[in-house]
Amino acid sequence: MNAYVGTPTSRVDGRAKVTGAAKYAGEFAPDGLVYGFVVEATIPCGRIVRLDTSEALEVNGVLDVLTHAHRPPLADNDEAWKDEVAPEGSPFRPLYDDSIKFNGQPIALVVADDWETAKFAATLVRVEYRQQAFATDLEPERGNAAEMDKPHQPRGDAATALVRAAVRHEADYAFATDLEAERGNAAEMDKPHQPRGDAATALVRAAVRHEADYVVPTEHHNPMELYASTVVWEGDGRLTVYDKTQGVQNVHKYLCSVFDKKPEDIRVLSPYVGGAFGSGLRPQYQVVLATLAALALKRSVRVVLTRQQMYGLGYRPMTIERVALGAKPDGTLDAVTHEAIAVTSRYEDFSRNDTGWAEQLYKSPNTRFSHKLVHLDVSTPCDMRAPGAASGVCALECAMDELAAALKLDPIELRLKCYSDRDQTEDLPYTSKQLRECYARGAEAFGWSTRNPTPRSTREDKELVGWGMATGVWEALQMPVAARIVLTANGHAEVSCAASDIGTGTYTIVAQVAADALGLPIENIDVKLGDSSLPQAPVEGGSWMAASSAHAVLGAAEDIRQELARLAKAMPGSPLADIPSADVILVDGTIAGKGQKSGTVSIADAMRHGKLERIEKQKLNQFAEDKSHARNTHSAVFAEVKVDEQLGVIRVTRVVSAVAAGRILNTKTGRSQIMGGVVWGIGMALHEETAMDHRFGRIMNHNIAEYHIPVNADIHNIEVIFVEERDDRINRLGVKGIGEIGIVGVPAAIANAVYHATGKRVRRFPITVDKLLA
Ligand code: MOS
Repeated sequence: MNAYVGTPTSRVDGRAKVTGAAKYAGEFAPDGLVYGFVVEATIPCGRIVRLDTSEALEVNGVLDVLTHAHRPPLADNDEAWKDEVAPEGSPFRPLYDDSIKFNGQPIALVVADDWETAKFAATLVRVEYRQQAFATDLEPERGNAAEMDKPHQPRGDAATALVRAAVRHEADYAFATDLEAERGNAAEMDKPHQPRGDAATALVRAAVRHEADYVVPTEHHNPMELYASTVVWEGDGRLTVYDKTQGVQNVHKYLCSVFDKKPEDIRVLSPYVGGAFGSGLRPQYQVVLATLAALALKRSVRVVLTRQQMYGLGYRPMTIERVALGAKPDGTLDAVTHEAIAVTSRYEDFSRNDTGWAEQLYKSPNTRFSHKLVHLDVSTPCDMRAPGAASGVCALECAMDELAAALKLDPIELRLKCYSDRDQTEDLPYTSKQLRECYARGAEAFGWSTRNPTPRSTREDKELVGWGMATGVWEALQMPVAARIVLTANGHAEVSCAASDIGTGTYTIVAQVAADALGLPIENIDVKLGDSSLPQAPVEGGSWMAASSAHAVLGAAEDIRQELARLAKAMPGSPLADIPSADVILVDGTIAGKGQKSGTVSIADAMRHGKLERIEKQKLNQFAEDKSHARNTHSAVFAEVKVDEQLGVIRVTRVVSAVAAGRILNTKTGRSQIMGGVVWGIGMALHEETAMDHRFGRIMNHNIAEYHIPVNADIHNIEVIFVEERDDRINRLGVKGIGEIGIVGVPAAIANAVYHATGKRVRRFPITVDKLLA
């Protein structure tokens, strides 16, 4: 029975959200709540010499000012600070010591009776910075000076990084925050994709070659909800932590190890999350600060970062993507090389798969991929929607468009010439890959066949009209997730799991799957999520939560079915007595025989007879180990732009995104997911860029007035097509996940449309007026 799965079911949490009943981390208000405000460092690298809090402490209403020199204990080893998605390296420890690793680093927390007082007093905290005296740290490192000149020790400790430049005055202190200037200092990462053939030679010999750099700037997530934590003091050092996070159990484990607490002493909840997009995968520093303050004051404390302060956490790292393509005159590829050079901090090696997506998309006998890191005096980047692919596929798909132009081939035709039915990384077939169908359906909906291939060929009044397209690809991952179902005799079920719903619709799909599997109306299903005490779940990310949680629910529901079948069959005169257990199904709120017309048993009767008021089952999902197939989602994105020739203003008037992502559990929330990805892709193409003043290593546009994101007026017609993709191999429901595929390919489709409209190729994102008119 499929009453709900696959249908456009409205969000089960929608009403709570629009009425304000849904509470977010910064909205819980326990008795005696006090407020923390963060003081940030104003230099990118160095040490705190003096931190004078006396003036701040004199302010009426200020309770305390926590600093590295005045705080409860924190763990002193990297292991304790590593969360479940921490990259290699030494995680940042807020208020740990006097070292400054990035501009905007938290260096003090002012705690006061109210937020305004804390905010005001924070301006009175006096800080003096200086280069650390070298006497103890410098000498042992001196012999390494040559190596330090290449500032790419993959994960040298912070002290070492600090002594790099021995100078007498703060202003002279050497630091680097500019990726392009430091490009030559990139260090190579482990290659996720082995080279095949001889790409260098093949490129030289190729009949047609295209090679270029594409630059994706640093971008910040800017979720609507601010980064926030409310820590409730429950007495005796026990804490309830409301946190904006994508993983309550990740934060729970982290807080326990950082604060040396027993698991039962801390409970972490994130019932609702107002957008996160990867920014809440790792624990955010405000949860450490709020916990520190709660332990110091033995009171409940809330810390909400300001929009500006949020720029002191993770971001999409700036990358220089160099793509080279070599082709035969007919458009078949001979060689693909893709090198990414990305920013990371001095203390952690954050990297994602930017390169290597061509292995999944395009047949080529010769390939080489590499990912290099440049270590700079900035905070560590983090995941941001489709990390790696959003940037890397953007470059690849712009390059494919440029190659198509050089070959005088239609961009879709080129992609079909190179279409790969196998993932060339390990030469595997796909569980399913309906990318061809995405091209066909998307092109048809868009009207691609009427496109005049010549750039600048179409004009409407003062605007040049351009059409571009690109391919999108992402992974179809699944992770261990457990769900618990408690069924009560009145035919209501509570389904629970620790997973957070970051706005993606997890509450709703969990309810849909449970309702179908239990044969109950969706109104009878209560879903509890985002609580560390519930059955296990990893962070919600990577587009893996829909498939993972759905199959956990399915497993628990199957155990409930078996229990009900046993009870129903055992009833005196049961109409199901002769029906094999496997053929007993749950449908329309009853227990029935598969294909049987008559004789059902009500859940209430079966449970009453079994003397049970509730049946509780918990199950960990189980996916068959299958290394014989690649698992991916795909899309074909088509964009129309209209460009004012005099002003250079670009409007994205139409986008069609045709997505093949297995079975879509909810076509309504699913469509919203893809639309959100398209909107963000428009942002990547035309608006978003974190601008840093490299003289100070300080972000200049740390607000959503100057960090541009698309607004309503920038968004026109977006059409989402879910291409049917039946996948019996990937998992029982055939679900792949769609959290990230929506953004991939969109920036390239728009850049390609801008080229088609104007004849001008902008390879440095975002495509702003100045670049277009230059
Ligand atoms: Mo996603 S960037 O894994 O939240």
